[in-house]
Amino acid sequence: MIKELFIDRKEHLKSLTHGLKNGKDYILIAPRRFGKTTLAQKILEDIAQDADCLTIHIDIMRYSGSVQSVAEGIVENCLNALGFMGRLKFLLKQIEFSFKLKVKYGDLEMEPLLQLIREKNDEWLLLEQALELVEKIAVKHNKKIIVFFDEFGELFYLGERVIKVFRSVIQLQKHVNYLFAGSQETLMTKVFVEKSGAFYRFGNLIFLKNLERDEILLYLTEMNLPYEIIEIILHKFNCHPYYTSKIIKDLIIEPQHAKSIDTFLDYINNVLISQENGYLELQLQKIKEKTHALDVMVNLSMGLDPYSSLNISRQAAYLALKNLENGGFITKIEKAKYVISDPLLALYLNR
Ligand SMILES: Nc1ncnc2c1ncn2[C@@H]1O[C@H](COP(=O)(O)OP(=O)(O)OP(=O)(O)O)[C@@H](O)[C@H]1O
Ligand SMILES: [Mg+2]
Repeated sequence: MIKELFIDRKEHLKSLTHGLKNGKDYILIAPRRFGKTTLAQKILEDIAQDADCLTIHIDIMRYSGSVQSVAEGIVENCLNALGFMGRLKFLLKQIEFSFKLKVKYGDLEMEPLLQLIREKNDEWLLLEQALELVEKIAVKHNKKIIVFFDEFGELFYLGERVIKVFRSVIQLQKHVNYLFAGSQETLMTKVFVEKSGAFYRFGNLIFLKNLERDEILLYLTEMNLPYEIIEIILHKFNCHPYYTSKIIKDLIIEPQHAKSIDTFLDYINNVLISQENGYLELQLQKIKEKTHALDVMVNLSMGLDPYSSLNISRQAAYLALKNLENGGFITKIEKAKYVISDPLLALYLNR
């Protein structure tokens, strides 16, 4: 069955759940839509079953504008985990909030931290204290805390100091373990894999992989799909876990899409792409923020070399490629040769 295609995710689910509960930290690295968030949420759910553990999920993307907002995000999610649900700025406006907090967590000394948030004049101190809060909660509640930082790569855009503060606070903690996820492979590698990175040797690196080609081939063959359609799926979607499994599921429900090459291409262009339109447009919006990046993407989608086929300087092409690579939109396959990471985005651009 289709579930079996995700066999390695199941193994990861088991080993990461066990590891996190037993003092290990992990870093999940994979391109967009490979299932990082889904896997991490499942892990947190499993861990939360354990009465001795508390889980905190912080999506950096939601708070990535400034150091202040990241720190506030950490505090907000800590408060949520403690049962104070709601956005921090609304919580702070409630008169009885501080009082309740004091009654419940008097010796947690939340007031200085909330003061820092209100005054907005020392974001670095605030960040340190926000990160320290997690350990304090763990000690106070006598629980192990597992924190999942999703979209960790977004922090890199705030500068190196943020990452260094994270590391310096986190590494001293004894009651908290961390799971990081990020899709910007080059940036994640810089911080977690390279010797000079702030998080070098911090935790166990998990690279979520593409699905196995042979496995998919076997599966598609068993579905009795025409050979040409199998070719298109393997060639155009490159064993991408999300798209491949989505296509398989769609074809099981509506086999008529696979009647001929034409009906299948029609399905891709009119069903799949329109279902994913919102996501694809969001990607394009981000790409457009960088100079020449969209032109370079369109160029790559046509199989051209942006260095020679665009009317821009070599330096400009290089910069656009670097930005795209850092953003996780393209992957380097050999020297000066790149491919678009999201196969559907590639098709969308090349329509
Ligand atoms: N193990 C799985 N089985 C079936 N579907 C999955 C699985 N993992 C992920 N998906 C589906 O794939 C899609 C992308 O997954 P998810 O959002 O977890 O990826 P991601 O790696 O966090 O992506 P991003 O980098 O964009 O945040 C989701 O719609 C999810 O429902
Ligand atoms: Mg995600």
